[in-house]
Amino acid sequence: MQLYEFFKTPIWIEDKPEFIKSLNKASDKYIKAARDKEKKYIKKYGDFGTSYHSSQLTLDNDFYDFRNYVGQKSWDFLDWQGFDMSQYQTMFSEMWVQEFAKKGGGHHSAHVHWNQHVSGFYFLKASSKTSYPVFHEPRTGARATKLKVKNMELSNANELVHVKARPGMLIIFPGYLEHEFVVDHGKEPFRFIHWNIQAVPKMMAKDA
Ligand SMILES: [Fe+2]
Repeated sequence: MQLYEFFKTPIWIEDKPEFIKSLNKASDKYIKAARDKEKKYIKKYGDFGTSYHSSQLTLDNDFYDFRNYVGQKSWDFLDWQGFDMSQYQTMFSEMWVQEFAKKGGGHHSAHVHWNQHVSGFYFLKASSKTSYPVFHEPRTGARATKLKVKNMELSNANELVHVKARPGMLIIFPGYLEHEFVVDHGKEPFRFIHWNIQAVPKMMAKDA
């Protein structure tokens, strides 16, 4: 038998350590502001169980090189998949930085970002002791007919894929791919940038 793999789910992962230092520095004030907004929560419940989300980074020049890099890579990602990118313009819908609570409990339940074509993460603070992303099987038919797996090794049977995060790791994935973040234990800091990109028909982009 010859193997054919149709309807695959591409995920690009790359190490880009050169952005870690400058983006951590540029992110500090955003995380501080996000934590300040939650002062009442922290006082009442402790620095636990949540994630502190920044405002949008899309207009901050400190993130300009990174935005350009990620924007181009996301366009490449769609082009490489076979989409006719001569007809579309890619645009950031959102880009923000977040840091999980210091005492642990930070997490995100499984979600997709509606009406987006490319999503991504860039990890600024992470280790083997922190949270990390988990991707879910996106094919609804396959998901509904899964069977018990032989073992936890990665295979065509898996429903979930765990990707251990490390600083400098860039992940680009299709906007339809459901993802979550496992509960953080508060042992070490966990900070990452998250973004979503839409491909807009060029005619519409011109009219807007
Ligand atoms: Fe997300």
